[in-house]
Amino acid sequence: MSKNICFIDGLEGILKYREIDINQLVELPYDAVSYLLILGELPVDQELAEYSSRLHGEREINREVMDIIRMCKLNIDSMEALRTIVSFISQFDPDINDSSPEGNLRKAIRLIAKIPTIVAAYYRMANGKEPLPPDRFLSHGANFLYMIRGSKPSQLEAEVMEKDFILSAEHELNASTFSSRVTASTLSDLYSAVVSGLCTLKGPLHGGARSEVMNMIEEIACPENAEEFILEKIAKKEKIMGFGHRVYKTYDPRGMIFKQLSRQLAEAKGDMHWYEIAEAIENTVIRELVEKKGKPIYPNVDFYSGVIYKYMDIPPQLATSIFAIGRVSGWIAHCFDQYEKKRIIRPRAFMLDEC
Ligand code: CMC
Repeated sequence: MSKNICFIDGLEGILKYREIDINQLVELPYDAVSYLLILGELPVDQELAEYSSRLHGEREINREVMDIIRMCKLNIDSMEALRTIVSFISQFDPDINDSSPEGNLRKAIRLIAKIPTIVAAYYRMANGKEPLPPDRFLSHGANFLYMIRGSKPSQLEAEVMEKDFILSAEHELNASTFSSRVTASTLSDLYSAVVSGLCTLKGPLHGGARSEVMNMIEEIACPENAEEFILEKIAKKEKIMGFGHRVYKTYDPRGMIFKQLSRQLAEAKGDMHWYEIAEAIENTVIRELVEKKGKPIYPNVDFYSGVIYKYMDIPPQLATSIFAIGRVSGWIAHCFDQYEKKRIIRPRAFMLDEC
C-alpha cells in the first residue's frame, strides 16, 4: 500500500485520507471511507457492495456477549463497557489466531461492524430498555441511530451521523492511534490493538473532550451567558474544551464541516438555541485568545460535533464511544501498516521531552 493513510497540513488546515481531501470524503458512505482507509483505494461499486454486505452481515452480537453487557454496571462510562466487551468478544472470533492479511481483514470487518451494536446495546440496557437487533439494510450511521433510539432517523440525521463517523475515522498519529500501533508493532492481535486505542481515546484531552463540550453548552444554557462563562475560564487559566490542537494552528477542517452541519441541523429543527450558544463561545474564545493573545486556539473536531449531538438527542455519555465507532477504521488501517513493517516501536525515554 503506497498512499499515506493520512496527510495533515496544520498551518493551512488541510486533512486528507489516502490523498483524498476530507471535504470530498464526507460526501461518501462511511463504508467506502472505511474501505479506503483499510485497503488503500476507494472501492468501485461492486467492491463497495461486497464490503458493505460483509460489514452489515457481521453486525449481530451473540447471546454470551449480550449476557456480559448485562453484567456491566449501569452507571459506568460507556467507554468502560465498550473496552471490556471488545476485549471479551475476541474469543468468539474464528480468526483470532490467523494473522494472515485475509484473517486480519475478516477480524477488521467484525470489529467495525460489531462496535456500534455493543455501544447501542449497553446504552439501551443502561437506560432500562431492551437492546435492538441491527438492521442490515441501513447505513452505518442510520443503523446506529436506529439501534439507540428504536426508530429510524430522518434522512438528514442519518447523513450527519455518517459524516460524523467519517470525520472521526482517521487523524494520523494521534494518541489513540499511536497506542494501537504500538500494540500491533509487537505483532499482538487486532482486538488487543483496538482495545489499546479505546483505552487511550477515553481521556478528556483526547476523545473525552466531546462530552465535556456538551456539558459546557448545557451549563451555559443561553447565548447571553457564554461570554462571561468563557472569560471566567480564561481568567482561571482553565482549558476550554473543544478548542486548540497539537497539530492545527488554524481552524480544524473537521471543525469547519461540523459547524456547517450543526447549523444545517439547527435550521432543519427550527431551533437555533444550541448553535447560538456555541457560536457565542467561539466568538469569545477567538476574540480573547486568538486576536488579543495571538494563540492559535480554534474549535477542533470535538466542538461543533458536541452541538450536533445536542440536536440529535445523543447524551454526553455516548460521545466518546461514537468517536470510537468512527475511529476504529483508522486504527485498523494503521495496524495493517504496522503489521507489514514487522518492526517493534520502541522510543527512548528522552523523546518524551518533545511530546
Ligand atoms: N483553552 C484555553 N487555552 C488553551 C487551550 C484551550 N482549549 N488549548 C491550548 N491552550 C493554551 C494553553 O493554555 C497554552 O497556553 P500558554 O502557552 O500560555 O501556557 C497554549 O495554548 C498551548 O497549549 P498546550 O496545552 O501546550 O497545547 P497542546 O498542543 O499540548 O495541547 C490540546 C493540545 C488539544 C490537548 C489542548 O489544546 C487542549 O487541552 N484542548 C482542550 C481539550 C480538547 O478539546 N481536546 C480535543 C483535542 S482534538 C481531538 C483529538 O485529537 O482527540
